[in-house]
Amino acid sequence: MWICPEANGHIQATGTDAAGRRRYLYHPRFREQQEAAKHEHILEVAPALPLLRKHTAEDLKVRGLCRDRVLACAARLLDLGFRRALRALLRRRDDGERLFAYWQAGAWHDVRADDLNAYLRERTDTDLTAKDFRTWHATVLAAVALAVVRTGGRQCAVHRDENGQLHAVSARCTHLGCIVAFNSAEQAWECPCHGSRFAPDGQILQGPAVRQLEKRDM
Ligand code: FES
Repeated sequence: MWICPEANGHIQATGTDAAGRRRYLYHPRFREQQEAAKHEHILEVAPALPLLRKHTAEDLKVRGLCRDRVLACAARLLDLGFRRALRALLRRRDDGERLFAYWQAGAWHDVRADDLNAYLRERTDTDLTAKDFRTWHATVLAAVALAVVRTGGRQCAVHRDENGQLHAVSARCTHLGCIVAFNSAEQAWECPCHGSRFAPDGQILQGPAVRQLEKRDM
């Protein structure tokens, strides 16, 4: 075990867990910066996803198990959210076999993570990598779980709770009509104008609003 002598060191401590894996404890500020950088990166590469889908659809139509078709299949799995399963397949080593391989120049070639990343870069002309899909799917899930959406010409504040139940209420604050935004740390809809706060089901947590957010059908 090693403990950083500096209070602001980016790694605060390292050690080995019971399974023999090396563990690192990072400074919370450093983790925040890393997370922010990941999300900035996703904003840069996400616009290339439609192009990737177009290319993978074309590559999947090719006959045989050539490089592009097999890599397109792996990319499609990533895009559909099967990252963990794909990672397990790419890492399969115990009996020397891998489930992803392509046929080229009279021989089978195992697909490795580097091949997949090269394919993602080639097809999108960005530095999109397999790891980015984790951040992308987390972002999509968060957007689906809590969002302000326009439906029937009105703004709805939609939140999916931990039991999977969807709560849809008007996104318009009942004080003076500003649009609320979700604060995930507080699990509340908050009004940026004068500070009213509402529970996910619209009940008032804090004024000046005196009426709850109206329920909406989704
Ligand atoms: S408009 Fe929301 S608190 Fe005033």
